[in-house]
Amino acid sequence: MRTMTFKVFRYDPDDGRDPHFQTFAVETVKGMTLLEALYWIMENKDPSFAFRSSCREANCGSCAMHINGSYGLACRTQVENLKPPITIRPLAHLQVLKDLVVDMKPFFDNFKAIKPYLIPGEDPPEKEYYQSVEDRKKIDHHVDCIMCGSCYGSCPVAYGDPKYLGPHALLKALRFVDDSRDGAADERLAMVASEFGVFRCHTIFNCQLVCPKDLNPTGAISKLKNKIVVKKFPFMKIFVKT
Ligand code: F3S
Repeated sequence: MRTMTFKVFRYDPDDGRDPHFQTFAVETVKGMTLLEALYWIMENKDPSFAFRSSCREANCGSCAMHINGSYGLACRTQVENLKPPITIRPLAHLQVLKDLVVDMKPFFDNFKAIKPYLIPGEDPPEKEYYQSVEDRKKIDHHVDCIMCGSCYGSCPVAYGDPKYLGPHALLKALRFVDDSRDGAADERLAMVASEFGVFRCHTIFNCQLVCPKDLNPTGAISKLKNKIVVKKFPFMKIFVKT
């Protein structure tokens, strides 16, 4: 057992206090995850301490937060790998509702804007939309996104412009553009080529560095930019010689 110091962001809109950090001495054990440490604080020090979690196995994306200067999933982070004092803040760019809980609505509104569902290009088949193994491989990478928000929190463009669709939404857009069963690639490309889409990205790479699933939103955005330029949409004529 080892006692470690945690500095945790606290904010309760009902108690009249300004946002602040509270320090806790946590009894940690080998193999303890950060999420378990947060539960330890809640169960042993302050039952009003608020944070999100669900699956505890890096599948639901609920427990993304700012951990010692970077972003990640609390359930996937081993406490023994963190340098004390372990400083925990909520995801950035989103309004804090209480402690580590933020309002994810703007994040999911951006996601909804790219129509994150299959829009088939043909009438429904009798049984199912067939996809070959090779075509499925083309989207293998993108489908693993769990929408945790780590990439969004780390992106300075999202900080400066809440209307920027963000790496999460743009990666998902490519997931559907590259899906052999989808028939709305042009519509999607026109959407992400808009004012708040891919051309707002400054290729800063933070989103790729922090992704807990080792995905590559930066690469996805570059691929979308490339597809848009190749398409030569009418509005692109000012950029591309036709
Ligand atoms: Fe932001 Fe990632 Fe682009 S951090 S600026 S979306 S490369």
